[in-house]
Amino acid sequence: MEADPRFRFVQGDICQAAAVEPLVAEADAVVNFAAETHVDRSLLDPGSFINTDVYGVYVLLEALRRTGGKARFLQISTDEVYGSVEAGSSREEDPPRPRSPYSASKAGGEMMAQAYFETYRLPVLITRGSNTFGPYQYPEKVIPLFITNALDDVPLPLYGDGLNVRDWLYVEDHCAAVDLVLHEGQAGEAYNVGGGNERTNLAVTELILQLVGKPRSLIAFVSDRPGHDRRYSLDCAKIGRLGWRPAHPFEDALRRTVEWYVQNEWWWRKLKTGEYADYYRRNYAHRRQSRQPAGAE
Ligand code: DAU
Repeated sequence: MEADPRFRFVQGDICQAAAVEPLVAEADAVVNFAAETHVDRSLLDPGSFINTDVYGVYVLLEALRRTGGKARFLQISTDEVYGSVEAGSSREEDPPRPRSPYSASKAGGEMMAQAYFETYRLPVLITRGSNTFGPYQYPEKVIPLFITNALDDVPLPLYGDGLNVRDWLYVEDHCAAVDLVLHEGQAGEAYNVGGGNERTNLAVTELILQLVGKPRSLIAFVSDRPGHDRRYSLDCAKIGRLGWRPAHPFEDALRRTVEWYVQNEWWWRKLKTGEYADYYRRNYAHRRQSRQPAGAE
């Protein structure tokens, strides 16, 4: 595939503000997807999350400020900044209550972006997306992990009682929301982006097994993620007023995602080796396997 000349990627040491200055100076828009994203990894190594998700955001903002760049700056954030939501749905003005090193770092990055809006009037926007899934997702995240484990008849390690709730958002719907906020959003504002598909992890796991055609006996209830947020839920009225609605029903999108992983083994199989295999051992080897908890019928 040929590289799209409208986009340029910076690799290497993001802590070098000078390295990104020439790029942001001439950009129309800076959309910061770059992040350490995986909660379990943040429990093993919080420092790398602070470096990338807080300091990295500062580097980009500072490069814009120093060069007088005119780009709109969109910070991709997460519903996890609201913390666990037992009832109701989070609105953009709710206070941040992050509970993991990952979500605390993302909240810090957002706050730095907001500070550059207030202090230096940089045109900063923020999106807070819910759990995203689809093709090409790294197989540490629960959906691709469980699909690829199931394809290999390897147990699916379901944390706790399996009844934590996530709101699932198909990647193409998420991208459409980011594009809309970048072009139509108001500077200084944050926008929730949720799929409207709240499901327990157990329900998602059972659906994956059904789609892959594997038995329920592959589910392995294992000891919980420390500080595991019980539920996320977003009120998306604000982005709805800009005209965004998710277009992909969850079950259809999950079926398509499973098909993609079935057909693209060449992409994911090599990723589950090397550093990944080491991480997998560190995250899963010590977990106690439990019987199915009461309530997870
Ligand atoms: O909510 C948005 C967030 O969604 C993003 O900001 C994060 O970058 C992204 O990683 C994701 O965070 P989660 O922790 O919700 O995603 P994950 O796929 O790790 O886990 C989803 C749920 O499944 C969560 O309740 C934990 C559970 N889980 C996860 C794994 C990896 C298991 O039960 N077993 C597992 O092995």
